[in-house]
Amino acid sequence: MDKPFYLTTPIYYVNDRPHIGHTYTTVLADVIARFQRMMGREVRFLTGTDEHGQKVEKAAAARVISPKALADEVVANYTDLWSRMGMTHDRFIRTTDADHRATVQGWFEKLQASGDITKATYKGLYSVSDEAFVTETQAKELQAQGLAHQLIELEEETYFFRLSKYEKPLLDFYAAHPEFVQPDFRFNEVKRFVEGGLQDLSISRTSITWGIPVPGDGKHVVYVWFDALLNYLTGAGNAWPPDLQLVGKDILRFHAVYWPAFLMAMQKVDPGIQLPTTILAHGWWLMGEDKMSKSKGNVVRPDTLLRFGNDALRFFFLRDMQVGHDRGFSFEGFMDRLNADLANGLGNLASRTLSMIQRYRDGRIPAQPDSRDGATRAKEDLGRAVCLQFPQFARENNFNAALDLLWDYLRGLDGYIVEKQPWVLAKDPAKAEELDAVLHLLWQALRMTAILVAPVMPGMAQDLWGQLGMTGQVADQRIDQDSWATPVPERIGTVQPLFQRIDKEKEMSELMPPEATPAAEAKPALDVPELRETIDYDTFAKTDLRVGKVLEAERVPKSDKLIKMRVDLGFELRTIVGGIGKAYAPEDLVGRRVVVVANLAPRKLMGIESHGMLLAASDNAGLPYLVAVPEEAHPGFLVK
Ligand code: MSP
Repeated sequence: MDKPFYLTTPIYYVNDRPHIGHTYTTVLADVIARFQRMMGREVRFLTGTDEHGQKVEKAAAARVISPKALADEVVANYTDLWSRMGMTHDRFIRTTDADHRATVQGWFEKLQASGDITKATYKGLYSVSDEAFVTETQAKELQAQGLAHQLIELEEETYFFRLSKYEKPLLDFYAAHPEFVQPDFRFNEVKRFVEGGLQDLSISRTSITWGIPVPGDGKHVVYVWFDALLNYLTGAGNAWPPDLQLVGKDILRFHAVYWPAFLMAMQKVDPGIQLPTTILAHGWWLMGEDKMSKSKGNVVRPDTLLRFGNDALRFFFLRDMQVGHDRGFSFEGFMDRLNADLANGLGNLASRTLSMIQRYRDGRIPAQPDSRDGATRAKEDLGRAVCLQFPQFARENNFNAALDLLWDYLRGLDGYIVEKQPWVLAKDPAKAEELDAVLHLLWQALRMTAILVAPVMPGMAQDLWGQLGMTGQVADQRIDQDSWATPVPERIGTVQPLFQRIDKEKEMSELMPPEATPAAEAKPALDVPELRETIDYDTFAKTDLRVGKVLEAERVPKSDKLIKMRVDLGFELRTIVGGIGKAYAPEDLVGRRVVVVANLAPRKLMGIESHGMLLAASDNAGLPYLVAVPEEAHPGFLVK
């Protein structure tokens, strides 16, 4: 007996409510889970939330609530949305669950005993402002700049995972398992990264308290990624190892490098710990060409789209996104797709077919006559081929191609109806058998369609199933069995439109614009600093503020706060180092418009000369919020 097909999504941070990016990953997983069940596999499908760590600690602090209270609130958002989306996960795991804590602490201890986790003392000069250790050269530079007072001697203990030991075993494993990471181009990135050399990984923190305590050493909490990745072990049930793990491209490295290395270390303790079969990295939903992010105010929440039904949203995700690639989202594109494929395409074909069966045969479905002409036989053969090909694409997680194939076929059937002109056949009693053949073919094609689309649009598929006169659950059918010749039931069911055409113009005017400020952050419970002394306009006007566009961004090594950027000011390119690394990732910044203090004297930060400063709001904890600039304002524009 096969073990269950074990499928996972990433577990989501609880510092924000779900947006369509998170929803996409989970929908993709749910479609795969439903597909596998219809292939006859038992499935274990795991999703959940990642609740520890600095991001959550900070988000909670800003609202003056405990991290657990914040997590509970966001988890309710997730579980509510998942049920509205029709998700069929077997467990919603939270990293604050007691059994998960036991998994993490248990493995931490076992890997310590086996020598893969070791404690080391770090001693060195530490920059208070950057919250990071500095190298000797960096320390000299700071001293030369008169900033020696920022440096203190610090000795810190940290637990290391011996990642460096696994460089070679990982490369050997990759070579032996070409299906380990999909798509291939992402696998190549992973290999190149590992070939570049791996350093031991610090897997404990003393700077935060919101985490799972290191067993026997309460000063330390376990690093959030060691904690988070192990959720897949905690939630495995009897299904280990994972057959398929879905991740976004941004977190592939954690899953394709750290995760198998952790598992290899565990395997030495427990040989039953096999490695996952495939990590599938999908691309991102973008807004235009931009990343969707809260700070840009361009986040699309699924609630906005759910008014068209969860089936419609699920279909759109799968039909429009080629797994592995990025895709720009637009409301217009969303509605066009649904109108074309669901209202016109499938909906129209179903209503035409069923109403013809109603009108010409009083609702009785004709059996397949022995004599069929060439055109009908050709459509039948093609239908059988689609039945076989669709599950093959789906097995490769290529639902985009599978749906493309099916919709091509459905379009072809529209042409077939035009060619056969059933309304003409219906007038001639001598053509009764020919009409039966047409109606039977169309009915079979719709029956097959209901089965094939059931993982993607469970509600609509069941609806169609009932309208076709079928009883029971479409989800109980086998998707991989050719059932074209199945005997027909006597009559069709009650006919109703499958999908209401969307009035695009009306919806466009009603659709909420992407939100600017999520409700969760609408009322920050913060004290504000006192107003500074009054100045005259001329004093203010001395500050040359310009619109800039970030072209490149990278973290300054050894600093978790500083980011080095290339900024286009319209009239020149500048290098600017900003202390925004705790709030923004470099990839969040590229392409973003910023306000630059352009006539500020240059200053060296960690050895890099910074020519200007970015304007940002700041909360009491010093966390920056970059000032937003509309897309239409070009680099070089004066801000005044
Ligand atoms: N907590 C970690 C994952 C730990 S897994 C052991 C995390 N959480 S997240 O909430 O930030 O992101 C979860 C997933 O959502 C990631 O796979 C990420 O790629 C995905 N997405 C976030 N924004 C996205 C889009 N705009 N489009 C598609 N997926 C996106 O990372």
